[in-house]
Amino acid sequence: MARNLVLILALTSLCIGLAAADWNILSKKSKNRDASSLKIYCESWRINYTADSERAMEEVRLHVSSCCALQGDGKDAWIFDVDDTLLSTIPYYKKHGFGGEKLNATSFEAWMKQSKAPALDHALKFFHEIKDKGVKIFLISSRSETLRSATVENLFNAGYHGWSGLTLRGLEDDFMKVQQYKSEARRALTKEGFRIWGIVGDQWSSVEGLPGAGRTFKLPNSMYYLS
Ligand SMILES: *[C@@H]1O[C@H](CO)[C@@H](O)[C@H](O)[C@H]1NC(C)=O
Ligand SMILES: *[C@@H]1O[C@H](CO)[C@@H](O)[C@H](O)[C@H]1NC(C)=O
Repeated sequence: MARNLVLILALTSLCIGLAAADWNILSKKSKNRDASSLKIYCESWRINYTADSERAMEEVRLHVSSCCALQGDGKDAWIFDVDDTLLSTIPYYKKHGFGGEKLNATSFEAWMKQSKAPALDHALKFFHEIKDKGVKIFLISSRSETLRSATVENLFNAGYHGWSGLTLRGLEDDFMKVQQYKSEARRALTKEGFRIWGIVGDQWSSVEGLPGAGRTFKLPNSMYYLS
């Protein structure tokens, strides 16, 4: 289900361009597409992104309501990504062509340091629901370790608290691909005896690889891709 939603969004990513390229459909003129139809197209992308992302979170909640034989021994765990899973980077991308411009890491980091990213409301709700069930929450992010205090402050500002771990990328992780780095972080948890019931992330690199989880959920993100 979530996968299908993602595919739909992958198609609509044409609208906002590809993060890797300095290319933006908004600046292309075409015989078949006038400005107003483009505007409608992009507006429908915006609405669909929210709807798809909410539907994916509904799936998560539905799954959790019946899935897991939680042991309540403090070893039940759930993993979240941070960016575009718990916090939205859309305000940043909105100012930068929705991915139509090549990402400027310096200005993106400066934005993250302001700790102003808003919560994705449906994720915030689920975060607290699963925490209230006694499940330990681990955040595994590909943000750099140097952004730790800004990230913690941002999470608090957005209404998140009570997680059990926040893993960020240190210098020693830099040689690894994101997927490997995230797998290693999960391996550390399973070694400590945690049962990972689920992962919610917006990147395939957050949910692929071993050790896996009871079930994984991929949220839409058509602005960027991390491998
Ligand atoms: C958004 O969803 C509607 C209804 O499902 C669909 O008709 C429309 O084409 C979608 N917009 C885009 C940009 O995919
Ligand atoms: C990236 O952003 C920084 C800070 O806003 C700016 O000084 C720099 O020139 C930008 N780099 C590129 C390649 O645009």
